[in-house]
Amino acid sequence: MVQRLTWCEISRGALQANIAEFRRLVGPACLLAPTVKANGYGHGLVLAARAFAEAGADVLCVNDLWEASVLHEAGVALPLHVVGRVTPEQAGEAVGLGVSLVAYDSDLLDALDAAAAGSGRRVRVHLKLETGTNRQGVGLDEARQLVRHAAGLSGVAIAAVATHFADVEDTTDHAYARQQLATFKAGLAALRDEGLPDLKGDIANSAATILWPEAHLDMVRVGISAYGMWPSNETLVSATLTHRDRLLLRPALAWKTQVAQVKTVPAGEYIGYGRTHRTTHDTRIAVLPVGYYDGYDRGMSNAAYVLVRGMRAQVRGRVCMNMVMVDVSDVPGVAAGDEVVLIGRSGDDAVTAEQVAMWAGTINYEVTTRIAESVPRVAV
Ligand SMILES: Cc1ncc(COP(=O)(O)O)c(C=O)c1O
Repeated sequence: MVQRLTWCEISRGALQANIAEFRRLVGPACLLAPTVKANGYGHGLVLAARAFAEAGADVLCVNDLWEASVLHEAGVALPLHVVGRVTPEQAGEAVGLGVSLVAYDSDLLDALDAAAAGSGRRVRVHLKLETGTNRQGVGLDEARQLVRHAAGLSGVAIAAVATHFADVEDTTDHAYARQQLATFKAGLAALRDEGLPDLKGDIANSAATILWPEAHLDMVRVGISAYGMWPSNETLVSATLTHRDRLLLRPALAWKTQVAQVKTVPAGEYIGYGRTHRTTHDTRIAVLPVGYYDGYDRGMSNAAYVLVRGMRAQVRGRVCMNMVMVDVSDVPGVAAGDEVVLIGRSGDDAVTAEQVAMWAGTINYEVTTRIAESVPRVAV
């Protein structure tokens, strides 16, 4: 196997500890359904799924049937729930994979019914109710029509109603999210009155799960925080204000590379494309074999730092496609082959995904999911 020069180390222990924290929070009766879509939020789809399964998760949320098929082939035995689009043409695959899924149109319900015919299976469907995010889903009247339509289909069971919050994590003012929760609960009650008294409720993401026990209902779809990251500073502030017993989250991902070359650049010379950095003194530069192709955002040019031998080394010049230059003038003894931490701990210092997000002008969600799939994920 050819050695890779940039890789991610994923702590299985951290992933499992986070699941244990959420189990403590939601109790035994609520289905704990960590979200492994987007390559397990960049942690590796199969790796994350296996760790969550071993830690006692009940269900795994995937985005699509392709992700479900990868987990199926990897032998992951937990029930899989598809939260993104399944087309009517994919109904046979959905039945074959035995997934539950989100639906919001009768064409898909009919296709699932036809695909399940004769198999003895009933596809469990979570009807997606629109409550104010205006993304995926339908309003209550249409949802009611779908429930009535599904009543005549033997291959489909409307098992739950689902929705997704628009604005829990971006604010400490939760009036809008609370209105969504109220709209959802009223919708759930109305749909139960359509002859489905056991209809389940499925609404909470990480932030809602952390902040509101009343949003747990029957299943929580915890994404970012299952990987040990807070959804936002606002969520951390809200949780600190409302919890006496604060949630302990353990970031599971470290992203590393190694020094490719060290050189002294004389004072007054330029570094990298566009000559955006000019040295003011003789500068020791380490060249790193990682770049925006790997997901190290070009926005971090001249902005970020990495850790070498436990010390900070500032990015100098532009991040290139496959290389980055960092200033190691103040880090003694750096040599080719030294380990470099792009995200994670080194010595008594750390670079967090949140810091990287700040430098890159984005959020921690995007930072870890954007680490290229070609970067190996190694379980530690
Ligand atoms: C439908 C759905 N459910 C759950 C989640 C998990 O959200 P979070 O990562 O904020 O917990 C997401 C994330 O994008 C989502 O799209």
